[in-house]
Amino acid sequence: MALPPRPTLFDFHGVSMTKYFTDNWDNVQNFKARPDDILLATYPKAGNTWVSYVLDLLYFSQMSSERQESVSLHERVPFLELQMPGFPSGVDELNKLTTSPRIIKTHLPVQFIPKSFWEQNSKIIYVARNAKDSAVSYFHFDRMNKVQPEPGDWSSFLQRFIEGKMVFGSWYEHVRVWWEKKKTSSNILYLFYEDLIENTEQELSRLCSFLGLSPSEELKKQVIEKVLFDNMKKNKMVNGSNDEVFDFKISPFMRKGKVGDWRNHFTVEQNEQFDEDYEKKMKNTDLEFRTVL
Ligand code: A3P
Repeated sequence: MALPPRPTLFDFHGVSMTKYFTDNWDNVQNFKARPDDILLATYPKAGNTWVSYVLDLLYFSQMSSERQESVSLHERVPFLELQMPGFPSGVDELNKLTTSPRIIKTHLPVQFIPKSFWEQNSKIIYVARNAKDSAVSYFHFDRMNKVQPEPGDWSSFLQRFIEGKMVFGSWYEHVRVWWEKKKTSSNILYLFYEDLIENTEQELSRLCSFLGLSPSEELKKQVIEKVLFDNMKKNKMVNGSNDEVFDFKISPFMRKGKVGDWRNHFTVEQNEQFDEDYEKKMKNTDLEFRTVL
């Protein structure tokens, strides 16, 4: 199938978006969440694939090996707001799912989350990743994903990242507003990519206790093994190799999986400018990130 063209960004209710995430807007906003749905929300490149695989394994790995061996992760965990010409929409995929709970991927900022998730008190997991690694990961992703806007070169991309002119808007707003929302919503668990890297087992336990799950030691061990970066990179069902919009000649989808790769991209000057701006943007929040471990 011919790929649709690379889209351009436009302002959508104050957030930069592309049509592939706004064309199905009414159906997304009217989506009927269920109390047992699990919404996995992240700004792009914060580890959504990683955590969605963890969740899928926790709930379904003991049910059928067929799911693990022949259904790609993006079908098991549909992407709520996605609407790509020639493909079923995320909402359609979700309405077709026969397994429960439904694990649902989204990159939407808080204010765009369909209201039924709040009405149903569905569980929401938010994963945040530090800005510098997010920017680097997003740059390589936009290079290889043919349905993202043209990234341009690294320095112009970084400038746009700082200005919030990215698909799904400003990283700063996204992580901050979800953080504030979490303070008043007991149905939200806020996780950090850096903690997941540093201590996967501990974060898995937090996740399970939030979800009310008590997996056996055996299952926990299996999950931790399967979600290791190198194992996911080899697994065709989760490494993006079934995704026609990715150009692996440019960059892998499972790229590095590290904290601190930004140091290989930021010049000293870019880093100083970034830090100065970061302080201004984040001065009124108690949200803190680690950029190295
Ligand atoms: P890098 O580009 O820095 O390697 P998302 O799934 O939200 O698009 O996030 C993608 C980022 O998460 C990529 O970061 C990817 O490599 C990383 N990632 C995916 N699976 C991972 C894992 N098992 N362990 C560590 N990082 C992982």
